[in-house]
Amino acid sequence: MAEKFYITTSIPYLNAPPHLGHALEYLQADVLARHQRLLGKDVFFLSGTDEHGAKVARTAETAGKTPKEFVDNLAKIFQDLLGKLSISNDDFLRTSDQARHWPGAQLLWEKLAASGDIYKGLYKGLYCVGHEAFITEKDMEGGICVLHKKSPEAVEEENYFFKLSKYTNRLKEALMKGEFQILPEWRKTETLNMLKEIGDVSFSRPAKDISWGVPVPGDATQTIYVWSDALANYLTGIGFGTEWTEFSAKGGSASGGKKYWPADVHVVGKDIMKFHTIFWPAMLMSAGLPLPKIIFVHGFINMKGEKMSKSLGNVADPFQLLEKYGADAVRFYLAHEVPAFGDSDYSLEHFHEVYEGFLMNGLGNLLSRTVKMMSVLGAISRPEESALARYPIKKSFNFLMSEGKSWSFEEASPMSLADGALWPAYQKAMDSYDISSAIKNVWIFLGRLDEYIEGYKVYKMAKSNPEEAKIILWHLAYSLASVAWMIKPFMPDTADKILSVLGVTANSREPWIKFSAKESAHLFPRVK
Ligand code: MSP
Repeated sequence: MAEKFYITTSIPYLNAPPHLGHALEYLQADVLARHQRLLGKDVFFLSGTDEHGAKVARTAETAGKTPKEFVDNLAKIFQDLLGKLSISNDDFLRTSDQARHWPGAQLLWEKLAASGDIYKGLYKGLYCVGHEAFITEKDMEGGICVLHKKSPEAVEEENYFFKLSKYTNRLKEALMKGEFQILPEWRKTETLNMLKEIGDVSFSRPAKDISWGVPVPGDATQTIYVWSDALANYLTGIGFGTEWTEFSAKGGSASGGKKYWPADVHVVGKDIMKFHTIFWPAMLMSAGLPLPKIIFVHGFINMKGEKMSKSLGNVADPFQLLEKYGADAVRFYLAHEVPAFGDSDYSLEHFHEVYEGFLMNGLGNLLSRTVKMMSVLGAISRPEESALARYPIKKSFNFLMSEGKSWSFEEASPMSLADGALWPAYQKAMDSYDISSAIKNVWIFLGRLDEYIEGYKVYKMAKSNPEEAKIILWHLAYSLASVAWMIKPFMPDTADKILSVLGVTANSREPWIKFSAKESAHLFPRVK
C-alpha cells in the first residue's frame, strides 16, 4: 500500500479576492503535492476558505450583502484561481459548510472542554480585526497595528478561554525532540521565544457581537473564535466529526479520510506561524490527536518592500497575469523568484523580464533550437559510451544547496551531469522542501546547455558532420527530457509538451534509447 502524504494550504479569509501572495502559497503546496505523487505516495491535498469572523462579516456589511451571499461569491473566485493556476488540490473545504465543517469544529471544541481546557472569563484587550486576534503593544507603533495599519479595538467582554499555558512545556519539549518540525529550521527559535510569552487565549466571542460563525456547543450566546474554527478545517477536510470522531494512537488500519491524519505538511505564511506552531499543536494535544509533522512557513510577496495585502491596497491580480502569460509562467515566477522560505519584491516589469529571460529566451529557445536541428537529422538512438564522452561541457559550475552551500561539478557530458549532478542536487533540495533552489538548479543547468550549443557550434556541425552532431543532440535531448521530469511538479503542461515534442512516450524517467523530435516547438509566445 502506498505511503500516505497529507498536505494543506492555509485557508484564506473571504474578505477580498485573492492576490499574488495567495497564489504563492497555492503554488508551493502544489509543487510539494505533485512531487510526492511522482514519488508514488497516496497524496491528499486540501485547500479551502476561512469564511467566518469579524473581518468577513464587516466587509460583507460594507458591501451591502449578507455574509452568506458575500462568501459564496468570493469562494467561487478562489476556486477559480486554483483551477486557472493548475493547482491539483483533491478537495476544497469551506468553513461555512454546516454539514462538512461545523460538526468537527464543534467536536474539537468539546474535546478541549472534556480535557478541562476551556473556562469562562472576562477578557480585556485590544482586538485587531486584520489579525483576527488580540494584539499587544509589541505588535503596535503609535497605537496602530504595524501589520494592518489600523487601530485595534478596545474590547472588554465575557468569553471562553483555552488553557494554552498548560501546554507550553509540552510544546517546548515536542519542538526540542523534533516531534514536529518547523521549516525553515531557524523559525523554531522564533517559536520557542514566542512560547515564553504565551498565556491562555480567548477562544470565543459573544454571539451578540459576532454571530457569523460556529456556535459554541451548549452555549449559543457565544461564537467559536474564528481561529479555533478555522484550524479545525485540517481535520474536518478529512472527515473528522462526520466520518470519524476518535483516533487511536496505536494507528492500525485507519481508512477513509482518517488514514491521512496526522498532516505531513501544513503550508502557511510567516504572519500566521504562531497559530500553527503553538495554538494548533496545543489544541491537538488537548484533544488527544497526533501532531502534524511539518509546518512549512513561507515569506511574503511584497510590493516596494511592503507586504502585498488587500487591506493595504497594494495587490497584484493573479488572474491578469494568468490570462496574459499562462499558468506555467506564473508558476515558474513564483517558484523561481520567491525563495521558498523568504520574501520577494514583485513588480510587473520584473515578472516580464523573468518571462522573457528564463522562459521565452531560456528554456523555450533552447528547446526550439534543439528540436529544429533534430528534426532535420531524424531519429537519434543512444550513442556508444565512448562517443558520448567526446563532448563534455567544458566549464565547471555550481548548484545551490539548501543549507547555503553549493556543489561544484567539473567537466563532464551533459547526460552524465543531468544524471549524476543535477538530479541529486534537485532531489536533495526537494527533500528539504527548498523548492526554489531545486528549480534554480534546473535553470543553472539550462544556462550551461545554451553555452554548450554555442561552444560546439552544433548548427554548423549538423550540416558538416551530421553523425557527430547527433551525439551532441542526444545529450541535449536527454538533458531536456530530464529537465522535463524535474519541472513536472512546477510546470506540468510545459513538462508534458517537452516530452511530447522530443518523442518520449515512456511514462517514467529513463531509460531513454531513442528521441525523435517533432518539427517545431513553441513553449512561450511573445507577450506584449
Ligand atoms: N484565514 C487565515 C488562515 C487560517 S488557516 C487555518 C488567514 N488568511 S489570509 O487570507 O490572511 O492569509 C492566507 C494565507 O495567505 C496566509 O498563509 C498568508 O501568510 C498568505 N499571504 C497573505 N498575503 C501574503 C503575501 N503578500 N505574500 C505571501 N503570502 C501571504 O491568515
